[in-house]
Amino acid sequence: MTELIWEGKYKDDKKVTPIRIALPFQTIETVNESAQQRQKTLDFFAADPATVYSKEWRNRLIWGDKKYVLPSLLPEFAGKINLIYIDPPFNVGADFSFTATIADNPDSDEDDSAQFVKEPNIIEKKAYRDTWGKGLDSYMQWFYETALLLKELLTNEGSIYVHLDWHVVHYVKTVMDEVFGYENFFNEIIWQRSTTVGSSKAIANRYPTLHDTLLVYYKSQKGTFNKQYTPPTEEYKARFNQKDKNGWYYWNTLATYSDETYKRLEKEDRLRWTQGAKYPQYKTYLHELKGNVLASVWTDINMLNPMAQERVEYATQKPQALLERIINVSSNEGELVLDCFCGSGTTAVASEKMNRRWIVCDLGRYAIHTTRKRLLGTENVKPFIVQNLGKYERQQWMLSEFENPENRIQQEKAYKHFIIELYHAKSLNGYTWIHGAKAGRLVHVGSVDAPVAVEDIKSTIREFWKLVGKDKTIQTNGIDFLGWDFAFDINETAKQFASENKVDVSFKKIPREVLEKKAVEQGDIKFYELASLTIKSKIDGKKHSISLENFIIPPDDVPQEVQGKITHWSQWVDYWAIDWNYRDDTFHNEWQSYRTKQDPKIELSVSHLYSVAGKYTVLVKVIDILGNDTTKVLHIDIK
Ligand SMILES: C[S@@+](CC[C@H](N)C(=O)[O-])C[C@H]1O[C@@H](n2cnc3c(N)ncnc32)[C@H](O)[C@@H]1O
Repeated sequence: MTELIWEGKYKDDKKVTPIRIALPFQTIETVNESAQQRQKTLDFFAADPATVYSKEWRNRLIWGDKKYVLPSLLPEFAGKINLIYIDPPFNVGADFSFTATIADNPDSDEDDSAQFVKEPNIIEKKAYRDTWGKGLDSYMQWFYETALLLKELLTNEGSIYVHLDWHVVHYVKTVMDEVFGYENFFNEIIWQRSTTVGSSKAIANRYPTLHDTLLVYYKSQKGTFNKQYTPPTEEYKARFNQKDKNGWYYWNTLATYSDETYKRLEKEDRLRWTQGAKYPQYKTYLHELKGNVLASVWTDINMLNPMAQERVEYATQKPQALLERIINVSSNEGELVLDCFCGSGTTAVASEKMNRRWIVCDLGRYAIHTTRKRLLGTENVKPFIVQNLGKYERQQWMLSEFENPENRIQQEKAYKHFIIELYHAKSLNGYTWIHGAKAGRLVHVGSVDAPVAVEDIKSTIREFWKLVGKDKTIQTNGIDFLGWDFAFDINETAKQFASENKVDVSFKKIPREVLEKKAVEQGDIKFYELASLTIKSKIDGKKHSISLENFIIPPDDVPQEVQGKITHWSQWVDYWAIDWNYRDDTFHNEWQSYRTKQDPKIELSVSHLYSVAGKYTVLVKVIDILGNDTTKVLHIDIK
């Protein structure tokens, strides 16, 4: 069989295959879960702590790179996915940048809303380099590895749709033939996405390109196929120009038929022979018409126009109707659909609507946020969970990046030294909690697999005072805490402890880019301070009211002119959600308010009525217009 070879396909005469480390998923949010179900999950957990979430099915929105997510799905889902749709990236500009929207200042009557394009961050650019770094060669290898894992995930009757355009579709066809088998190539679908031919310059010397291509493969020869019909055209309907007591009809030629059909039509008085004809004719009634059998050229679904209701300002968003059709044809109710490049979440939303179960994933933070909002706006959306690979991905990184995997202490030391260097600080040895110094401040580095907790902060402050008291050469006025994650209560408890102990503290996030060697080599790693959120909380009997009072986000990568446009802190807020009774489980999204294109206003206060007195922990999660989240904790006592 013909084989396509690209650079990097073989190493030592063997094909290079994908990494296959299965990392455990962490559930970071539960959406739409009922109180009863939550209690059930907590009971399960109490009985068996290994049960991370309920045994009942939950649709899953996963934030992560497909290279880690797909192998991590294998233990649970190998051979279990009924339908896969992928719309993989092939153009970085469109794939990773997104249009963020700044809403109106609520205190002003003017229309001061604005939009700006958020450029891809380093980690997203890195994913692009993985795919396109060495041009087509690396794209082929990247795609080949994806296809191998996807095949393992499909059931024997499953199908996969790969959505591409002319740039790479022909190369990908050969890879799909290699992985799935030439004989399992089921169809090539031409989706005419537009009828607008583009500017005269763009089409001066070429045919306008109006279509994308979908390659459809079965895993084996027998895939699900539910035949579809498209409504008849007006031109076709015009043929039905005669009428009898049964309705409008025309005489159609009966070229092939069974005895049974012939007899039935004869009995119904619907047959005639015209003189000299080779075949009989039969009456075809308009009311019996199912439409035209859906064929491989789809011209009836248009690309989203700028005014389309379903548009969510995600450049590569595909029409929901396209996904609904695919899901309808190639899966049945209750079956499981996967999309590992979900973007704005079209596959998840269409699966919800068609009553399928779904798992979708994307590397982009903004894609996950957009999908969550879209799902929340979907009628009768079933409970779903948001997951990532969190600390396990970081542990994996530490194991592979630093020597001495058998000596955890040495390895941890090397890791901290590395972070200190990235922070452009000087390493300090001989202390337990203090790891470096920079510009008159001391630095603590949080560990790879746990959030920086209040106890870590207290211990660091105690060590700080011992050090300052002992070593007169150390002139410092504060400590920077660098962490991947921070315990929810650091802002209040830890800051209060720090001020009682006369230490100025700041909390900075270690960016995910650190995990990417190439991003580090590029030397563009920025540690931003945590956003600061001020909340007003009031209790009146059993009623608890919460309002957002202020929200300051670090400058991050928001262009200067955009920052200038923000005149009210609430314009940074895109979404906020509350868990009224957090019980050290995952964040349960029990109430939320968010902006949409149709309704860009957001509520800034809400109240909740508790039915039972007691002490409660309330979590408030705010997501800014770039998709970053900040969480705040409140402890309340309902009498
Ligand atoms: C063409 S878009 C998909 C659009 C989607 N079909 C929709 O309707 O919105 C491709 C998506 O792949 C994501 N992506 C790119 N590389 C990825 C990777 N290695 N792992 C997971 N997602 C990735 C991008 O963030 C982008 O959202």
